[in-house]
Amino acid sequence: MRTGQGALATVPPVVFATVLGLFGLLAAPATLAGPVGDTQAELWAAGCAACHGTHGASVGGFPPLAGRSASELLALMLRQRAGQADSTIMHQHARGFSEAELARIAAVFAARPKP
Ligand code: HEC
Repeated sequence: MRTGQGALATVPPVVFATVLGLFGLLAAPATLAGPVGDTQAELWAAGCAACHGTHGASVGGFPPLAGRSASELLALMLRQRAGQADSTIMHQHARGFSEAELARIAAVFAARPKP
């Protein structure tokens, strides 16, 4: 055994990469946690409560929004906005917002706990 090398030199590269990867996963929720402080989007989202329940946790016949993936919610709303989805009323709401605004609203609901 040679001496004079640091401890890191004995760590196989694959282990090193795995450890770095795990740190990446741990760091991810902080960046995906959502639009902390996007007050404007929170206000827009408040307008959805009448139908989709407080904080998007619907208890009636309306689809719940809270805790669903932002990309799924955005895709659904874009389809409604484009008139491509079965919609009684939602297409009208979706048309009131730009795509960027809908993305911010979707992020608000995605960050909320599932009902
Ligand atoms: C007047 C009631 C009403 C309001 C207000 C409303 N929605 Fe909806 N929403 C509906 C209904 C009803 C549906 C089911 C599709 C339809 O019939 O239009 C729906 C469907 C959806 C869907 C698709 C869910 C799925 O699983 O298919 C999303 C996403 C959505 N709404 C988001 C929102 C957001 C975000 C807001 C606020 C900006 C909002 N809605 C405001 C009534 C409403």
